[in-house]
Amino acid sequence: MAKVLCVLYDDPIGGHPDSYARDGLPELSGYPGGQTLPSPKGIDFTPGHLLGSVSGELGLRRFLEERGHTLVVTSDKDSDRFERELAEAEVVISQPFWPAYLTAERIARAPKLKLAVTAGIGSDHVDLDAAIEHGVTVAEVTYCNSISVAEHVVMMILSLVRNYLPAHRTVLDGGWNIADVVARSYDLEGMDVGTVAAGRIGLAVLRRLKPFDVRLHYTDRHRLPAEVEEELGLTFHPDAAAMVPHCDVVTVNAPLHPETEGLFGDELIATMKRGAYLINTARARIADRDAIVRALDSGQLAGYAGDVWYPQPAPADHPWRSMRHHGMTPHISGSSLSAQARYAAGTREILECWLDGTPIREEYLIVEGGALAGTGAHSYSTR
Ligand SMILES: NC(=O)c1ccc[n+]([C@@H]2O[C@H](COP(=O)([O-])OP(=O)(O)OC[C@H]3O[C@@H](n4cnc5c(N)ncnc54)[C@H](O)[C@@H]3O)[C@@H](O)[C@H]2O)c1
Repeated sequence: MAKVLCVLYDDPIGGHPDSYARDGLPELSGYPGGQTLPSPKGIDFTPGHLLGSVSGELGLRRFLEERGHTLVVTSDKDSDRFERELAEAEVVISQPFWPAYLTAERIARAPKLKLAVTAGIGSDHVDLDAAIEHGVTVAEVTYCNSISVAEHVVMMILSLVRNYLPAHRTVLDGGWNIADVVARSYDLEGMDVGTVAAGRIGLAVLRRLKPFDVRLHYTDRHRLPAEVEEELGLTFHPDAAAMVPHCDVVTVNAPLHPETEGLFGDELIATMKRGAYLINTARARIADRDAIVRALDSGQLAGYAGDVWYPQPAPADHPWRSMRHHGMTPHISGSSLSAQARYAAGTREILECWLDGTPIREEYLIVEGGALAGTGAHSYSTR
């Protein structure tokens, strides 16, 4: 029988909700491009309810306990108790919003660990080289929140360019000084917008921005089909360095791996247009923390927004909390109630496959059998 260690974020301060702002969720028939939605044999939760915090348990308890497995759910990811649980666990589940960092040292101290599931997308909180070395399978719920993030990116681009957050702050403060706000407010129309990576999120961002009458650019290791480039009027660039000098707005939608770590440092940012906006909902360490602060101070960047930090949770004195012209949120974009229903179902699907000994979908795999596999082979690299 397996011990499953599930690390989730804390419940709301006022306790687990007993009612919600809306009744239910819209029904989707599939993902763009034809990938099917998660298809577990059953679910023990109500879609639209809070599942990603400790009391929500991703809706997994009944399913696992009925089969005789042990489920430990905790928000505690950094104590001795976590280390003790980890030493006994066959499966570790965590969400990128509240990542249980599975470093090489921790993996070495977890002799029973066989499966690390990301309830979400982005498995960089697992040391993939160590997972490969120790034969640990890494799987994530590909596509579960890609559209959620794409919506957040569009929101953040518009908020920065139009200077929405300071305008809202003016209202909260009881003020009406229009000039203070509009002195940094522009239209997106006519701008050049580029994405670093045009996978599930990046392409969805491009599609959503098309009606804003902007010029669209992208770079990716895998070029999009010619008909997609034509449909959206895309300009392809061989790498980020070739793309960013052309862009007023840059959005980052690549995984964090050796090719992308530290990409947006002083050097690359210096080649951007003065007053460009940078939106990074991918992973914090794709950008150099202090270079971002410097670029906002100097005016090289007019704004920075995103929801990804390092480490997570971000310490109270993290400089991105107080830097100028930022539109940061905590890591929430991929954890809307809509997304939670999909990744809870996808996590259940992965566990059903694991426990029944049937194959996990190819697109959910990041590492399997001692190598990058599935989406991992497509989108990541090793050291
Ligand atoms: N903020 C959030 O809540 C949140 C939620 C989901 C995903 N994410 C992040 O977004 C990433 C992308 O998600 P997705 O669903 O689009 O994944 P995806 O696998 O569909 O797309 C990733 C794309 O990145 C490209 N890529 C990889 N390395 C590259 C490089 N060096 N240069 C250019 N392109 C490169 C790949 O070719 C692929 O097209 C995730 O890995 C994760 O880090 C964040």
